Amino acid sequence: LAATDYQAEDATIVQGTVAANHTGYTGTGFVDYTNVKGSYVEFTVSGASAGTASLTLRYANGTSTDRPMDISVNGTVVSPAVSFPATTDWNTWATKTVTIPLTAGTDKIRATATTAGGGPNLDRVGV
Ligand code: GCU
Ligand code: CA
Repeated sequence: LAATDYQAEDATIVQGTVAANHTGYTGTGFVDYTNVKGSYVEFTVSGASAGTASLTLRYANGTSTDRPMDISVNGTVVSPAVSFPATTDWNTWATKTVTIPLTAGTDKIRATATTAGGGPNLDRVGV
């Protein structure tokens, strides 16, 4: 089944800003997480069938320090402290894939920074 892409700049952003000051993003920009623990981006996904799905997050981390995030679905953390390691520079994007449970209805998928560095820059997710 082909994944549907959801741009981070179109999602709900709490403690983050839409930015376009690096290259290689898709859509109109990416989310620059504020460098605090608890900053998050939440995607509303509908049309999936119930069961497990692959969630692919496209990100950049131009530091040499991991930027882990909790992945939650409808308020429950399903993948804690997922690693988003360095990608060489802020113009270099990588993907991280996790398996998540979805319902047959609308799901709220949230990626929340777990450390004081905040999240990586987030371009989009596919699910
Ligand atoms: C730099 C970079 C941002 C990034 C930030 C960070 O300011 O330009 O895109 O989000 O570092 O460390 O989080
Ligand atoms: Ca940032």
